[in-house]
This record gives sequence, C-alpha cells and structure tokens, in this order.
Amino acid sequence: MSQLTLGIETSCDETAVAVVEDGFQVRSSLIASQVARHEPFGGVVPEVAARAHVEALNPLMQESLDAAGIGFGDLSGVAVTVGPGLVGALLTGMAAAKAVALATGIDLIGVNHLEGHVWANFLEQAPPEPPYVALVVSGGHTMIVHIPQAHRHEVLGQTLDDAAGEAFDKVARMIGLGFPGGPALDRLARDGDPTAIRFPRAMQDSGDFSFSMSGLKTAVLRHVKRERAEGRDLNLADVAASFQEAVVDVQVKKTIEAATKLDVPTILLGGGVVANTRLRERMLAAGEGAGLLVRFPPLDLCTDNAAMIACVGAARLARGERSSFDIGADPQLRLSA
Ligand code: KG4
Ligand code: ZN
Repeated sequence: MSQLTLGIETSCDETAVAVVEDGFQVRSSLIASQVARHEPFGGVVPEVAARAHVEALNPLMQESLDAAGIGFGDLSGVAVTVGPGLVGALLTGMAAAKAVALATGIDLIGVNHLEGHVWANFLEQAPPEPPYVALVVSGGHTMIVHIPQAHRHEVLGQTLDDAAGEAFDKVARMIGLGFPGGPALDRLARDGDPTAIRFPRAMQDSGDFSFSMSGLKTAVLRHVKRERAEGRDLNLADVAASFQEAVVDVQVKKTIEAATKLDVPTILLGGGVVANTRLRERMLAAGEGAGLLVRFPPLDLCTDNAAMIACVGAARLARGERSSFDIGADPQLRLSA
C-alpha cells in the first residue's frame, strides 16, 4: 500500500498544496501565487499574505486531491510548514493542516521550511546517501549546512546581512525589473557580460562560511547612479550579469570549500535562488572539477512548494515522529541539530 502525504506550505507569499506518494513521488503540486497582490507594494505585505492564504487554501486542497485522483480518506498523513516564515501566514496553513488531521484522523507533522528546500532534492530522483553539504539560498536565507545524517544539521555559516534572493530582488528593483526580480534578472543576465563590471566579492577569502551581500548591493547602486549622473548609457544586461557573477563566485567557492574541508562527497543545493541558471551551471562545473556530486531539485521545486514539505513530513512520519495539535508556528525556527 502506498503512503499518500498531503503537504501544506504558507510560510511567505505562495499558497502551496501537494500530494506526495511514498515520500518522493509527486502526485500533485499546486501553487497559488500572490505576486500580483504584493506587487503594488514592491514587497510582501504580511497581512495581505495571511488573508490571501485563507482564501486560497480550501479550494487549493481540493484541487490538489483532485489532481492526484484521491480523496481526503486516502491520505495517511499531513505535513505543514511551521517555520521559519511570517507568523500570520504560517498560522493559516497550520490551521488547515490541523483541521484535515482532526477531521480524518490522520497524523500531523510539522516541518521546517529550510529542511524542505534541502529535501526537494529527493523528489522524483533517487536520493544519494548522506552525508551532505547543503547550500540553502532563498529570499530569506543564505547558509551552508553540514548534514551528517538525515534530519541532523550543523549550520557552518550564513549571511551576516541580506539573503541572496533578497539581494537579487533589490538589485532587480534598482534596474527597473519589478518584483520579484530574481527570475527577471537571471533572464536579463544571459545577454550580458559577467566580466563587464568588477563588483566586490565580499568575504570570498574569509576562510569561513559566512556571507555578506550588503556591500555588493551598495556597489551596484553606486555604479548605476554614477553612470546615470555622467549621462552614460547603462548596459543593464552587463550590470545584471556582473552582479550575478559576484554572488555566484562566492557561493560556489564556499560550498566547494565546505565539502572539501569536511570530506563530504555530495552537495545539495536548495532554495529559490537555485533556480538561477548561472548558479546551477557554475556549481555543476565546480563539482565536476573537485570530484564532488552536485545535486539540485527540478526547476519548479526550487522555489517554494508543498511537495518538499510533504517529502520531509513523510520521512519524519516513517521514523515514528508526530506533532501534537498544540504545535505552534515558529517564525524564527532553526534547523535542528
Ligand atoms: O525559496 P523561495 O521561493 O522563497 C523563500 O523561502 O524565500 O525563494 C525566493 C527567492 C526570491 O528572492 C527570488 O527572487 C529568488 O528566490 N529567485 C531567483 C531565481 N528564481 C527565484 N534568484 C535568482 N535567479 C532565479 N532564477
Ligand atoms: Zn523558501
């Protein structure tokens, strides 16, 4: 008998529901994007996000079950993101998950969103054996994590200021690409020269696994302002490609260094920024050069989705873990040791 796990993800601005079979096979993965509602504000407004999740959740759950060709009665567990994220947004998904668990009698399991991003690597493709070194780069996080065995995490280093996705979004806004700008900047950069402008590679040689993005962001802003003030034609594709290259250079170097130092043969990439074309291609090449296996999720499972949450949840349920009905949201949740 196959195990069917419902996943629910509402930590930020995407309402996502998925059905995953036996922990790794995606039967359905649906996302109701709220981008249009937040766009006028140039960023995610927490109250708007929570309200939109409430409106979207029930129909999306039904659609997800329909797309998987099952009913509530066929589920064996429900997994939900409990953090990190926006508290009001998290609570909407948790209320829905608890309602499903209560009404159907199936098990409830709370999942860490960041662990979800890492486990997106195990969907639809055979999982490599641990240990792993993971680079998690999203709108809210930039970190390198040592995972000696499943569900155990040692954060080796993280950003001291902005997250990578945040930097992509801010630079995209500076050059008029709208919100969220990461994907648009990625597309524009394909027509640019990554060596056109030498932006700073902050902490590239710091010898640890910390990151800093704010200096790079300021350098891009200064460049854009100076070029415009001096009446020069700004080549936006060059700016995008040069900024992107600076980010990717540091991430590639530190991730390979971490795996080499710890003698870990497998690198897992997770989080929305892993959708970035240049990061994927540079990581693959660097991994090959260093004799390391580099894995990343299918493109549509890099950014926020509920299949990754169901994937972690199914594995934790299989280990006998359960969450109680009084589990709360934890906006600052860390990866467990
Ligand atoms: O993981 P995610 O969907 O949400 C969070 O957990 O934060 O990541 C979203 C972030 C956004 O900042 C978005 O601009 C960025 O990932 N992103 C990208 C690309 N696609 C999404 N950044 C660079 N290149 C991309 N192709
Ligand atoms: Zn995320």
